[in-house]
Amino acid sequence: MSAVIRDAIPADLSALVAIDSAVTPFPWSRGQLAESLANHRVLMLEEDGVAAGFLIFNRVLDEAELFNVVVCRTRQGRGYGAALVARLIELNRSHARSIFLEVRASNQRAIDLYQRMGFTRQGTRKGYYPALPGAAEQPREDAWIMAYVY
Ligand SMILES: CC(C)(COP(=O)(O)OP(=O)(O)OC[C@H]1O[C@@H](n2cnc3c(N)ncnc32)[C@H](O)[C@@H]1OP(=O)(O)O)[C@@H](O)C(=O)NCCC(=O)NCCS
Repeated sequence: MSAVIRDAIPADLSALVAIDSAVTPFPWSRGQLAESLANHRVLMLEEDGVAAGFLIFNRVLDEAELFNVVVCRTRQGRGYGAALVARLIELNRSHARSIFLEVRASNQRAIDLYQRMGFTRQGTRKGYYPALPGAAEQPREDAWIMAYVY
């Protein structure tokens, strides 16, 4: 199998919506994803020509922020998440001093990935996210703030 990472284009919107809504418990709306295509940088990962994952980031001056990274459930565990984050790090190397992100404290798979790629925990935003379905005993969930520092 061959995977390619390229910049997303407006025609990728439906693929982004399909991937996000199939994988994440609180998917972004079509409008939010369209806004990202217009205003942020969206990387699309294709496996044999089929959209398999994406990553959204933005950079302001020398600080980049990772907004979202998602890989189709059936294509997870093949290194695609790592490949997208590695591309993010390379794309910002000459421009940014750091990359920040927020991640659910319970999202161990994502946290493991970020730590493996060199991100470290900077702090916590208490009650930042709505609780996941089925975790209603806590109405909100903390976010970890993580950063990659060049
Ligand atoms: C987090 C996420 C993007 C990771 O994507 P992924 O493509 O599965 O990531 P990778 O394959 O690079 O790494 C994940 C695991 O697969 C393993 N792996 C990597 N390449 C592999 C391969 N070729 N074969 C088998 N396993 C492999 C990694 O060691 C890693 O192991 P772990 O489960 O112990 O962490 C994905 O799980 C996802 O889309 N989650 C839902 C959305 C989300 O929560 N995004 C984060 C928002 S902050």
